[in-house]
Amino acid sequence: MESEQYKSVAVSDDESAEGADQDETKNKSEQYGAVSDDEADDDVSVEDVAKVEDDDAITDFSEDIDSILVRKNVLGQGAYGLVYKGLPNPEIIEKSKHLKLNQVVAVKEQFISDESDRKYLFQHVTQQLTPTDLVPPIATEIRALRKVVRHGCGDNVAKLYDVFYNVNTTKMYYIMEFIDGLDLSVVEKTLNLLRHIRLGNITETDIMKHMVYPLLSGLVCMHLAGIAHRDIKADNMMLSRDTGTAKWIDFGLSCVDTCRKLKTIHNSGNAPEVAWANKNLDKTKLNTWTTADLWAFGCFLYRFIMGNTYPIQELVIKAKREKISVEQYVEQNALAATEVWLNPLSAFPKNEFPLIHDILNATLQIDPTKRAETWNAWLEQNMDKLDLTPTLPPVYQ
Ligand SMILES: Nc1ncnc2c1ncn2[C@@H]1O[C@H](COP(=O)(O)OP(=O)(O)OP(=O)(O)O)[C@@H](O)[C@H]1O
Ligand SMILES: [Mg+2]
Repeated sequence: MESEQYKSVAVSDDESAEGADQDETKNKSEQYGAVSDDEADDDVSVEDVAKVEDDDAITDFSEDIDSILVRKNVLGQGAYGLVYKGLPNPEIIEKSKHLKLNQVVAVKEQFISDESDRKYLFQHVTQQLTPTDLVPPIATEIRALRKVVRHGCGDNVAKLYDVFYNVNTTKMYYIMEFIDGLDLSVVEKTLNLLRHIRLGNITETDIMKHMVYPLLSGLVCMHLAGIAHRDIKADNMMLSRDTGTAKWIDFGLSCVDTCRKLKTIHNSGNAPEVAWANKNLDKTKLNTWTTADLWAFGCFLYRFIMGNTYPIQELVIKAKREKISVEQYVEQNALAATEVWLNPLSAFPKNEFPLIHDILNATLQIDPTKRAETWNAWLEQNMDKLDLTPTLPPVYQ
């Protein structure tokens, strides 16, 4: 039976907004070998909308990035536009409730191509809709980013300050906290972590302190806030030079309160139960995705340390291509007696990384119910190591 505690983690939220989700039509290949999810996921209707809070407002802005930032440079390439770093110009600071002079920010530019999103955004900025007005899926990233901060997860997440929209160019600008550092995909590629740990340059304790505990604090916190990230991968975690700790970015695929089925698969969608064309699985449930986030986090962590994909994840991806469950794939390919299937963490150096091994063991359970149970057990023993604020619901106090 699914553990009661994790159920609470997944669904607890004292805010009454009905969930909206975003237009999940992203189509880019993902780190763990994503494939297009052509299983017959039904669309959720446009009724799938929600109320927004005051600070979810999007501000009309008729200029482009050059008028938003001075002394800007490109930080990264996103799916829908570039991400910049720079100083907000005085006009922007005047329009903002949050920005200060000389405060370096990151700006994520997003080209809005969907006609109904454009229509909504046009209405939103020109008619200054109030918080009681309905919001379409496009606003999910904004809602998620606002909500994580309201729930006290701000230390482990890049904060969102303001959102501007240009109705002429149909470009949206998310003005965010700049994290001076590297995303973990760069760390993963450039640093042979295993080697450094074995040479004694980096200890497991360092990794736990700087990366794993802060990221897990953020993940548990967002789950408690009623948000599933759903795009868990090294590119979406930043290691800050200032604080020396990792933070989450990119809530573009997240869901708030309730979820929609995804048309395109991504990392959390490669959790065995989600990847399989399992018609009985309710993908609109937040619980489904918070549990899938745990699997994706385990896969990230395995790869981060080992430098290669978690072996079961490779099987999940192959099974998905054949539209069968991983168990069926294993049976059809006579893999049931193999070491990979019976003991998938056998290659992982448990003695050198006992803490990480425990987390992998908890998050990489194939059965999502068992995963929730093992995860709860881990959490119960390690809550004190996570940086969770007392504003969280009593389940964690
Ligand atoms: N707040 C930030 N501070 C510093 N760098 C950032 C910040 N946000 C994003 N970046 C950089 O820009 C890259 C792309 O940003 P992000 O992941 O938010 O966009 P995206 O990849 O388009 O989103 P998606 O994965 O939804 O397509 C990141 O991998 C990171 O290197
Ligand atoms: Mg990203």
